Amino acid sequence: MHLEDPCLAAITAATRQAYDENAAQYAGRTDDFASFPGLEGELERFRAVLPEGRVLDLGCGAGRDTRHLISRGREVISGDLSIELLRLTERWPNTRLVQLDLMSLPFRDGSFAGVWASGSLLHTPSAAHPRAFSEIYRVLAGRGATAISLRDGEGEGWRRGVRMDDERWFTLRHPDHVVQELASAGFTSIRWTHCGRGDWFIVEAVKPWVPTRQDAGRTESA
Ligand SMILES: C[S@@+](CC[C@H](N)C(=O)[O-])C[C@H]1O[C@@H](n2cnc3c(N)ncnc32)[C@H](O)[C@@H]1O
Repeated sequence: MHLEDPCLAAITAATRQAYDENAAQYAGRTDDFASFPGLEGELERFRAVLPEGRVLDLGCGAGRDTRHLISRGREVISGDLSIELLRLTERWPNTRLVQLDLMSLPFRDGSFAGVWASGSLLHTPSAAHPRAFSEIYRVLAGRGATAISLRDGEGEGWRRGVRMDDERWFTLRHPDHVVQELASAGFTSIRWTHCGRGDWFIVEAVKPWVPTRQDAGRTESA
């Protein structure tokens, strides 16, 4: 799907508006781990495989996962489409916020050790996912890891969710298709599991380390 696709632009604008207008309500419903059994364990599993370096919380929402990663000593950049959600996240210490669109990340290649994308691609059409996965791959350093959670199923379109009254675009995906697209983007060590929260699943993947010209003559672990 092309970045200038009018359908994509309309969905992105509507997503931003929905989260901006309902930011406080959404934050109140997603602010802690109590309603998300197993999520803290997923974050810890992600954290355990990360090399040294910054983490991008992509589509950080109200910042629940950002705060967890910071509390565990990671430097985190929190990115979201919604300026109002970012304003709420700003209240917390040590947060570094960037308003962004996951389709075109405002970071240099290889800037992050990890990209955590919990639920953020849920509101992006499936045809645009390969581009979003390539962006995640691009901003990761070699050996960097990503964890992407989505909902298992078929179909996409406008509907009302449980945490917000406004209609949003929802995209359901078969985990195997997501795995194939991540492999096409270049990721390795890809595995997925159901989260145990309704139809949610999480896919974890690693960007392989590729020696550059400057690395020639050095060993991989140097
Ligand atoms: C289902 S919420 C998940 C929020 C948070 N990660 C969590 O788990 O609580 C989706 C989040 O992704 C953000 N989002 C949706 N589309 C986005 C896009 N194109 N670029 C960046 N963020 C986006 C929304 O603003 C919202 O904060």
